[in-house]
Amino acid sequence: MNKPVASRWAQQFPQLGTDPVPVDALLSAEYFQREKEKLFKRTWLKLARVEELPQSGSWKLKPLPIWDSSIILVRGEDGQIRGFHNTCSHRGNRVIWAEDGHGKDRRFSCHFHGWTYNLKGELVHVPQEEEFFDSFCKPDNGLAPVAVEVWEGFIFAHLDPQPAVSLKDYLGEAATRLEGFPYGQMTAVYAYRTVLNCNWKIAQDAFSEAYHVTTIHAGSFPEGFSAKLYEVQLFGPHRTSAVYMDDKGPTPTPVAALSHRLGTTSIAKRGTRVALPPGVNPTRSPNFAFELSVMFPNFLVHIMDGLYFTHQFHPLSVDQTLWEGIQYFPPPQNAGERFSQEYGQVLQRNAWLEDTATMEATHAALKSGAKKVMHLQDQEVLLRHHYQAVDEYVNS
Ligand code: FES
Ligand SMILES: [Fe+2]
Repeated sequence: MNKPVASRWAQQFPQLGTDPVPVDALLSAEYFQREKEKLFKRTWLKLARVEELPQSGSWKLKPLPIWDSSIILVRGEDGQIRGFHNTCSHRGNRVIWAEDGHGKDRRFSCHFHGWTYNLKGELVHVPQEEEFFDSFCKPDNGLAPVAVEVWEGFIFAHLDPQPAVSLKDYLGEAATRLEGFPYGQMTAVYAYRTVLNCNWKIAQDAFSEAYHVTTIHAGSFPEGFSAKLYEVQLFGPHRTSAVYMDDKGPTPTPVAALSHRLGTTSIAKRGTRVALPPGVNPTRSPNFAFELSVMFPNFLVHIMDGLYFTHQFHPLSVDQTLWEGIQYFPPPQNAGERFSQEYGQVLQRNAWLEDTATMEATHAALKSGAKKVMHLQDQEVLLRHHYQAVDEYVNS
């Protein structure tokens, strides 16, 4: 057994302090407004995967209330992925009339008066163009762009079309240490999403510690996971940690044992855990379960042998959040692998239902004002770091 010894994170990261954390950041509309303007409108946000835009003309429309906008991501004829606000340059109608979705087109044409844009967002057709005046210049009236950059197939966007910091520099070592994992080969996708009546940080917190595993997940994972975090590292506002199984590991039910025998893997299957970048599970411990990486502010990536899964928390208002949980597997090669993946993803779905079940109740109870602070223990270090990182942006 080569599981590392759990550290005292407060000693390792004294800058995080040990005081109780005020809950005002979860409830205050004024704080949320500052999060919106000073944090979300100034950082890179993940919007999609490259597999969602497979061909020239493939587009995805992503509503982003936190930017007061909807963003069109589209792959051009040159293969490049670009991003634009879904706002017509004429009188501002939506160019794509859907709320969200995918499609494939050679042009985008506004339904209102027919202004038409190409895949680079350039305005290429204006009906009755001769009726406009000298102040109108067609080349200046393309769709308004946002910055788009891709890391390991994840498409990120920045509201500022010329951001001061590139995605690569923004993510830094938090991203480079996860590079080389075969994300692009894992194209069997199971996605879940729902709107939760809670602050986005309450939702995200529930996926950033293992303290709750023995209580909330008593149904899905009655035993097997350690409630502690291992190998915690902080990279600016980003953070990562490893989640381990206990020495015995989960006792598989008969259906779990069958799944483990037939298939690649699931979160509850003990395995070799070696097909990982060198910085992840560096001791190649069989007790390693998965990496829990948070790309600030709202994107979580978890990798392990044979699958990865992500969570994202899109704030809709101070007390509403769109949660998206997605699991990615390699396409199954036979019926046994298909069965195993189905078992693994249903197990995760059940655990996520257990996680999300706490969130609305927490938010509603905190709104009473009965408690002004929350007490975070040493193994909730990722939450402590998150609140501090948000605070730094909000107070900048
Ligand atoms: S608002 Fe789009 S063409 Fe008029
Ligand atoms: Fe959980």
